Amino acid sequence: MRIRIDYTNMLTPAVGAYGISPEELRAEYEKGRAALASLRAKRDSIRWRDLPYNQKEIVEKINAVAADVRERAESFVVLGIGGSALGPIAVQQALNHPRWNELPRGKRNGPKLYVEDNVDPERMVALFDVIDPETTVFNVITKSGSTSETMAQLLTVMRLLIDRYGEEHLKDRLIATTDCEKGNLIGIAEKYGLTTFFVPEGVGGRFSEMCPVGLLPAAVCGIDIEAMLGGAALMDELCDSDDIEKNPALMYALLETIAMRKGANVGVLMPYADSLKYFADWYAQLWAESLGKRRGEERFGQTPVKALGVTDQHSQVQLYTDGPFDKTITFLGVEKYRAEFTIPHAVDENPNVAFLSGHTFNELISAERVATEHAVTVSGHMNKTIILPEVNANTIGQLMMLFELATAYAGELLGIDAYDQPGVEEGKKMTYALLGKKGFEDKLREMKEDSVRRTV
Ligand code: PA5
Repeated sequence: MRIRIDYTNMLTPAVGAYGISPEELRAEYEKGRAALASLRAKRDSIRWRDLPYNQKEIVEKINAVAADVRERAESFVVLGIGGSALGPIAVQQALNHPRWNELPRGKRNGPKLYVEDNVDPERMVALFDVIDPETTVFNVITKSGSTSETMAQLLTVMRLLIDRYGEEHLKDRLIATTDCEKGNLIGIAEKYGLTTFFVPEGVGGRFSEMCPVGLLPAAVCGIDIEAMLGGAALMDELCDSDDIEKNPALMYALLETIAMRKGANVGVLMPYADSLKYFADWYAQLWAESLGKRRGEERFGQTPVKALGVTDQHSQVQLYTDGPFDKTITFLGVEKYRAEFTIPHAVDENPNVAFLSGHTFNELISAERVATEHAVTVSGHMNKTIILPEVNANTIGQLMMLFELATAYAGELLGIDAYDQPGVEEGKKMTYALLGKKGFEDKLREMKEDSVRRTV
């Protein structure tokens, strides 16, 4: 059940002049080996690579807490943003019923899941129209323990729960996931005796899906988190191979960084499965926030674009064939979907429609992927396909680790720090300043000085 990458169509024999020649690729292997060595040397600080191996006890605790939540909750609400939300959303969509929240309770192995990753007031208010606090467990997730959006949500939920049930019952309805020392959440969690999970040191937000950030929501919704970790371990081992041609993450990173040098500033990820639609959102954050960096005057990064097969064939693919050579396209294909459905006969008298009858939807979606790959290739655009034998907990663990490691290798190849996010932090500080947080007065002055607006 191993996922594989077919990168034939990144190369000139398939796509012609705008591709990467096999010689060009081989010439980069030396750099690839250096990236491999420098990532190995960082092993002690990038602890997200250890997550598949070192969480036996945590997994037991997560499964126990998850079983209790499943027993008593109708709704499970995650309060978090960015790396504290996109993984839980992606995994839930990938592994559970596509209409999970609409299923009757008897057909759901867990509560409804809501991941509240915005502070749009309309959405916040609407949440309380669909959940009953009496039967809801909240999980506030913030590594830094200081993100304004998550803290605002936490204050809202705490006020409601304290007013309704009293401070002493907060611990029955609120679980915290945060750093074990830093930030404001840990103190709140200790004060109210909340069940608390930790984001280990060396695990940044966007690399945190395989720790309690992602594992708890997944386990609450009945997902086999040990299988996910098993898949991540398998991919981690593969992607440590010295043989670049057998190391999928390093090959992915080499191809994309060469493509970036050739002007492919856009990296499209196009899954041919609704179950992987939000995986593309998770990828977008990982790729953008990790690689979008500046070193002196030099700027790096590739703009991630999310597309969905086949839906976006009728929206974006025209651009991918006839538009500029400024992008690579990575298709995600699935060999065996979890459902099979045959297109029935209904208008056999009309051969222009009847040719579809008797084929399966599975054949249709796969044919459309192959056809689109071909159209993109003959129009000269670099593309590759990641094939998942099936979408299951193990292959999702593999896929996430593949992208995390590809991002890490790309960071090494570009010579940038893939683990910081100074641009995001700057935005957070500006928000503090605008909302009057102490210590940010200078930032407010800076913004006021810059505030010449031109509107039309
Ligand atoms: O990847 C990251 O580090 C960020 O996207 C964070 O996940 C995001 O800013 C939320 O941060 P926190 O979990 O500290 O609230």
